[in-house]
Parts: sequence; C-alpha cells; structure tokens
Amino acid sequence: MALLSEGEIGQLVLAAEKEIESASTPEELSTLKIKYVGRSGILTLALRGLKDISPEDRPKVGQALNSAKVSLEEKIDARTSELEAAARKTARGFFDHTLPGTPYFLGHPHPLVQVNREIVRIFNFMGFETATGPEIETDYYNFEALNFPKDHPARDMWDTFYLQDSELLLRTHTSPVQARVFEKRKPPIKILAPGRVYRHEAINARSYYTFLQIEGFYVDADVSFADLKGVLHAFVSAFYGDVKTRFRPSFFPFTEPSAEMDISCTICGGKGCSVCKYEGWLEILGCGMIHPQVFRNVGYDPEVWRGYAFGLGVDRIAMQKYRIDDIRLFYENDLRFLEQF
Ligand code: DAH
Repeated sequence: MALLSEGEIGQLVLAAEKEIESASTPEELSTLKIKYVGRSGILTLALRGLKDISPEDRPKVGQALNSAKVSLEEKIDARTSELEAAARKTARGFFDHTLPGTPYFLGHPHPLVQVNREIVRIFNFMGFETATGPEIETDYYNFEALNFPKDHPARDMWDTFYLQDSELLLRTHTSPVQARVFEKRKPPIKILAPGRVYRHEAINARSYYTFLQIEGFYVDADVSFADLKGVLHAFVSAFYGDVKTRFRPSFFPFTEPSAEMDISCTICGGKGCSVCKYEGWLEILGCGMIHPQVFRNVGYDPEVWRGYAFGLGVDRIAMQKYRIDDIRLFYENDLRFLEQF
C-alpha cells in the first residue's frame, strides 16, 4: 500500500463521503465499509504502513488516518441505520394521517319500506293502530272466515301457494288479519295491518309472486260508506296532494257493497298519459263495507256493528309515485336501482 500524504487522506475522505451519501441500501453501505475500513480496507492498510514512514511524519499522518477511519465508520453506521429504519417503516405499512378516510357504504330503507312507512304514518295519524298477522295462514283465515265458501269460484281471484302436505298456505292478502283481530277484540276497533302477501302468478312487469299490502278496517256502532270515502280521501290528499278520487263498484266476498278506488293520474292530472294508459285514472285500492257474514263468523252481531275495510297495494303505489314501470326492480336488489331512493 502506497503511503498517503495528509492531503491525499483528505481527498480520500471526501470521495468516501460522497459514496456514502449516494448509497441507497444497507448492502451498498456494507460494501463501502469493507472498502475503506474493513480488515483489508484502504485506511486499515494505510495505518499498517505507518511503520514505514519517517518518525517525524508518523504522528501527523497517523492521527489523520485514525480520525478519517473513525469518522467514515461513524458516517457509514449512521447512514445504515437511517436506511434500515426507512425500510422497516415501509415493511410495516406506512400510515399517512393526511389521507382521506376510506369511504364505506351506508344503507338506507328500501323504497317499498319508505312508501310503506309513509302510508302507515298517515293512517296512524288518523287514529288507526297497527296490527300484524302470520304470512303462513290457514285456509280458514285466508278464505273461509272472509266469506269464501269452500270451492267458491271467488277463490280463483287469489292464486294461492299451498304448502306441501299441510293445510297451510301463504296468505294471498292481508284481509285475514281482520278475522284474527275480530276474534280477539270487541269493537270499536280501528286497525291498520301492513304486511307481505303471496300469489301464484306469472311474473311479469306488472305482477310478482309477492308484494306488500296494507289492510285497514274500522268497526263501530255507526260506521258508513261515507266515513270510508272520507278517510280514503284524507289519505290520498295527505299522500299525493291535490288529486281527485272516484269509486267504482266491485266485488269482494268479504265486503258488501264493494268498490275499487281510483285517483286522478298523478302524472297527467287526468288528461291521459302512458302511466294511466290514457284513462286519466289510476286504481289504488279495493274497499267496502264489511259483510255481515264476516261479523257472524267471528261472533259480532251484524245488527249492532258496522264496519268498513280497505286493502291497498304498496308496490303499485310506489311504482306510480316513482314512475317505475317494472315491479321486479323492487325485488332484484340491484344497487344501481336502490341507490336512487
Ligand atoms: N284483499 C283484497 C285483495 O287482496 C283487497 C281488499 C279489498 C281488501 C276490499 C279489503 C277490502 O279490506 O275491503 O285484493
């Protein structure tokens, strides 16, 4: 190893410092450490060669070599721990407090639930209390108590799902809640019974095998058809605003007389459009005065008690309200549809 002058040592240190600074991995630094201060490193060998230089130069050169060695070693070690700390941080997953948080999906009530709640709220306000009944029903409550004799053709209006090997069926309407409540309570009663119903029907844009209904009924000593019209009109005014209503005669085994109620089309105001099929009217519910036989079946005296009842389809009302032309959209749970409500 050629002997180094003080100047050369200074140059060597500068060059080494540059190399240390530009090293980007602990491995590169350990190579540098070997190169300069390792057992056969430049500075180590130079120190070993001290014995060959003149005694008067020896202390100075020796000191310069020593401090160069110590300082380079320190710099290499410091830079190594810096790089190692940075590597550990990345490995652990660096947490940036300034990044915006991860947004998460917040659900909200289904459009049918929203409409259902709104209808229930309006009727509760008019004094109707809420009741429920089972979705799996007996033939008795779904039909017989409601004055459908066995084998009566009116049963065909409700295509029924029967449960295999059992007397039970899926209720085709919420009207069975009438008989269930009548059996347990004495008039006056004013009830709203929302719930899911099932029909064995071909599925298409207008009908589905299940949907939501809301049944309402009021029994008291002096209830008239005029009361029924009044309460339904109050409901549509609260729900739709300024619309007209009309009643058309209809038939249900459990009401006499029976009617269906239409409202003037909420889209065209009655002039005629594709939503109302150019009729100007939309059918929203069936209703009537509770049949005396229904009262007899539950032990109410039809000479004493009068009652009205109505049943409305929540899905149809929601479809009209939001101008949805396919009922299946309510049941497919496609977020692109649901997120609009
Ligand atoms: N239950 C009937 C249906 O599903 C709707 C209905 C009509 C309910 C007249 C009533 C009523 O309470 O009085 O089509």
